[in-house]
Amino acid sequence: MASKGVLARLDRAVDDFSRRTRYFHEEMTKGRARMFAMQHRLNTRHRNSVLKLKVATNCPDWDTRIGIIKACSEEVIADHEHGGGRAHWEILEDLGTRIGLKRSEIRAATPIATTQLAWAAWEGLMANRHWLEGIVANTCAERANVPGYGTGIMKKHGWFGLERERWGKLFGLSDGELEFFELHEKADIEHSDAGWRAVERFAKQLHMEDAVVAACEKNLQVWEMYLNGIGEAGNRLGRR
Ligand SMILES: [Fe+2]
Ligand SMILES: [Fe+2]
Repeated sequence: MASKGVLARLDRAVDDFSRRTRYFHEEMTKGRARMFAMQHRLNTRHRNSVLKLKVATNCPDWDTRIGIIKACSEEVIADHEHGGGRAHWEILEDLGTRIGLKRSEIRAATPIATTQLAWAAWEGLMANRHWLEGIVANTCAERANVPGYGTGIMKKHGWFGLERERWGKLFGLSDGELEFFELHEKADIEHSDAGWRAVERFAKQLHMEDAVVAACEKNLQVWEMYLNGIGEAGNRLGRR
């Protein structure tokens, strides 16, 4: 299959993920939003300081490797381009304080069982894998922040466009206060394009078209479990 065919197959996997994942379609609640802020702060720190760097380590193409490290550094050290010099997890922490969480509470959060399972699964899908499967793992969920997948608001503005909309309504927050979601609408077009471009350049040459599509599907199954886990734990948090 031609390399254009591979990207179309990856796009189909992301579209399917956007349509089937319950977390995107069930109602957003205060408990779910708070649980997302706590778990996703931890998740973004772990993925970008541990898992994605393992993919960079395995990548022989210098520009692609540096691109991965640059994207990770925006997430965990400082994003000067979209985040005013703050790391994405710091911006998410600030958002948490606007939805009724204490900063101390956010910082004391520990990964729930499904988050721990997701990290274990990603370890298997990112650490000891061919780097091209790894770069798909790095970027396939960020791809859902790019418009065009799923239906409704998500198709129009991406996953974080959807969250901006529903968190804004739920908590009465302005676009400025929801900057965590807004900045990703730009940052993740860049982050995920890097992954999609690498696949376009290398999948055919390395005879890995089927492998990268399979990697994309498996990784998105893990993301689905991770997000639905946040939904369920968020329901329990909301009942407390
Ligand atoms: Fe980010
Ligand atoms: Fe990103």
